[in-house]
This record gives sequence, C-alpha cells and structure tokens, in this order.
Amino acid sequence: MKNVSIALLGCGTVGKGVVDLLQMNGHLISEQTDTHIHIKHVLVRDIEKYKNVGLDENLHLTDNFKDIIEDDEVEIVVEVMGSADFAKACIEECFRRGKSVVSANKDVIADCGIGLLKLAQENGADFQFEASVAGGIPIIRPMYSSLNANQIEEIIGIMNGTTNYILTNMTDRGLTYEEALKEAQEKGYAEADPTSDVGGFDAARKIAILAKLGFHAYVNVKDVSIEGIEGVTKEDIAHATAMGYAIKLLAVAEKNTDGISLAVHPAFVPKDHPLANVGGAYNAVYVRGNCVGDVMLYGQGAGSLPTASAVVSDIMNVIQHINTEMTGKRPYLWHETAVKDAAENKAPYYIRLIAANAPGVLANMSGVFAKHGISIRSLIQKDETKEAAEIVILVDSTPCKTVRFALNEIEQLTCIHRICNAIRVIEV
Ligand code: NAP
Ligand code: HSE
Repeated sequence: MKNVSIALLGCGTVGKGVVDLLQMNGHLISEQTDTHIHIKHVLVRDIEKYKNVGLDENLHLTDNFKDIIEDDEVEIVVEVMGSADFAKACIEECFRRGKSVVSANKDVIADCGIGLLKLAQENGADFQFEASVAGGIPIIRPMYSSLNANQIEEIIGIMNGTTNYILTNMTDRGLTYEEALKEAQEKGYAEADPTSDVGGFDAARKIAILAKLGFHAYVNVKDVSIEGIEGVTKEDIAHATAMGYAIKLLAVAEKNTDGISLAVHPAFVPKDHPLANVGGAYNAVYVRGNCVGDVMLYGQGAGSLPTASAVVSDIMNVIQHINTEMTGKRPYLWHETAVKDAAENKAPYYIRLIAANAPGVLANMSGVFAKHGISIRSLIQKDETKEAAEIVILVDSTPCKTVRFALNEIEQLTCIHRICNAIRVIEV
C-alpha cells in the first residue's frame, strides 16, 4: 500500500470533520485507493485552542504556512480556512510548488476559480472543490463530468443551509429570526460572518461557481443580482403559509440565446413543489440539461461530516490521479458569454404594504400598477388599526425592474405608510 502525506489548512467545523471522517472510514478509503492517507500538518491561528480537541498527538500543529509549503513530502493540501486573500495566496503557492489542492472555499473559487484551475494545470497539479457548493451534495463533479454531455439550460436551488434552517424554523417552530440564526451558528452551518449567509452572498458565490462550470462561462459573483432574507418577516411567512407557499432563498442561473442571468432572492415556492419541502440545513439543486431533462440533487448542504464527505472524496480523487499519472491533466472549457441583467426576468410578485385606511387608497395604488402595465391577480386588505390597513397583493408575471419602479412610485403616495416586502412567486 502507498502512503500520501497531506496537510490541512484549518481545523474548524470542516477540517475537524475531515480528521474524524478519516478516522471513521480510513480503512475503506485506503482499500479503494490502495493508499494510506497521513495527515502530517494542520495549520491554525491559535495552536493552544487545538491541543485538547482530540487530534492525534503525532500530527504537527502549526501556525506557520512555511512548515507545509516547504515540506516536499506533502503532496495534497486541504484548504478549509475560509479566509479569502490568505487562502488564495496559499492555494497559488501550493500550485507553484506542484502540490494539489482540495478546497471548500467558495469565496475564493467564485471569484478566482477559473484562474486557479488554469494555474493548477500549468503546474501539473489538481484543484478540486466539491465541498464549495452545497456541502455534502455531489454537484461540482456532476456539473463538469456526469452531466457534461448536455447543454445546461437552468440551475436552480436552495444552496444555503443557514438561511434554509432559519426560514424552516421560523415557519415550523415559530422561532424568531434571531433565535433560528443562533441555532444555525451553534450547529456549525453559518459562515464566520453570518451576514454572508443571510444577505445571500454565500448562495451567490455558489451559483456563480455552478454557472461557471455548467455554462463553461467566465462569470463572477459580481454578475449575480443578490437579495437576502433579512427583510422576510413572520407576517410574510404567515401570509405565505395561508396562501399555500413556503418562503425559500433560491439561487437561480438561466441560460438562453441572449445570455446568462444569475440571481439570489427569497421566493414564494408552492407547497407541492419539491423545493418547498427541503427543510432545515438541507440543500437541493435542480439542473436542467437539454438531453437529460431535470435532475435534482438533495442532501445536507452544511455541517462537519457532510462537508467532510465531499472534501475527502476530492482527496481520494486526487490520489487516484496521482496513482494513474493523471494529475493536472483534466481539460476545462471556457467561453466568453453575455451576462443579462436579472432584473429583466419576469415573475409574479407578492407585495405587502401598510396604507392609510381611507377612501381612494386602492384606486391610487392600482392606478400606478396600471400605468406600469402590472395586472393585479388578487388583493387582501386587513385593518391594522382604525387609521392603517395591511394590504397584500399578488400581481401577474412582471419584470422585476418594472415592479421596483412601480413600488418606488407607490411609496411616494401620501396614503402609503410603507412598502413592507415584494417577493417573487414561483409557478410550477
Ligand atoms: P471554521 O469552523 O471557522 O474553521 C476555520 C479554521 O481555519 C479554524 O481552524 C481556524 O483556526 C483556521 N483559520 C482561519 N483563518 C486562518 C488563517 N489565516 N491562518 C491559519 N488558520 C486559519 O470554518 P469552517 O466552517 O470549517 O469553514 C471552512 C471553509 O469551508 C470555509 O471556506 C467555508 O465557507 C467552507 N464550508 C463550510 C461548511 C460548513 O458547513 N461549515 C460547508 C461547506 C463549505 P483558528 O481557530 O485558530 O482561528
Ligand atoms: N454557511 C454555509 C451554509 C455553509 O449555511 O450553507 C455551507 O457552504
């Protein structure tokens, strides 16, 4: 049996998961790869913190990346730190030294993935990042391998475990947003800075990565139109439930003849739609190929062992490439592709606002909708107080930007107290 020495950059939720998984399943992994995986170094910032977390005594804990990069015995470096600039610099240095890298770092891959893949190849190294999108769900490899005989037309999914955990638990257990976020952090789903989760940036990075691979396109996270879940209230959730919908944070990539559009936004999803039933920290990704049709992948999108499952599978893949002399040889295809403004995309909308409880309010408001060519599908009014009413409106499919223009105008009407929310509705 061969031996391969690896180093971990980071030993938090994911890094410790990798250590634990290799302990649990090491025998099966060695049998399949004919190789014993030896974790030689682990890089962290605060060594003291890691002295009593159950790491093997022979493993070398260090806070100095030089110990790893200068060790010729280390063939594979596993980057699970989460920082952006330092992680990217480490990955590049690994490639320059001919070391292969496995990473879970969507920040780096969403922004610089194509450049890093090219650098890896130039240096005869592998770069694998299955865990960067949807944790334990195999989606990266299907994107560039199992589904690569297709023209991919659409990718749509729930790709952030933290927000899905929050929305599910606000809906099912009546938790407040803050309570649900705290639980998601305690369970290790959330990013170090959870604004990245709740603001939609984490999902935006993931859809940018999938769009790169699925559409062979030079797209970046800056091409994604992003809305998070911070504005979703218990009132919106109650209305969605009463109307037969679940609110989900969706990441959507579409390709048609005039280009690609990329967006992350909350959406009303009909309860009988499979995505509406993806609960807790689970993720699901739908991919539509022009030959295969719809494929849905579902599983745990975050957490220690589920994410480690993807990371270790990548390590095994790199080992198989080493053993078959295929390292750095996989070709990738990239095209220049136009990116469309996602605000042009059409959808029906749920709109909630607070208005004066007075004659003429509905006439004024519907006048603005009519002026913008927006057709009202249904309207419910409920008195909040003697003076104010909550109005919930469903409008027919309209471009996002037209809804925004109309709402900006409606907000200026003296009879309107405030626009609370406008959320796209998914139709099956
Ligand atoms: P984490 O629990 O915060 O752990 C980060 C680890 O990296 C810690 O051991 C930390 O050491 C170390 N670290 C951070 N910056 C460092 C630096 N500059 N130098 C040396 N060590 C450094 O993070 P995580 O949840 O495991 O996430 C790691 C990566 O996986 C991120 O890119 C994340 O987006 C991705 N990911 C996470 C999940 C998940 O479910 N958590 C799922 C998929 C992908 P100290 O403790 O000493 O600071
Ligand atoms: N913070 C991320 C999530 C971790 O909640 O989905 C997995 O990428």
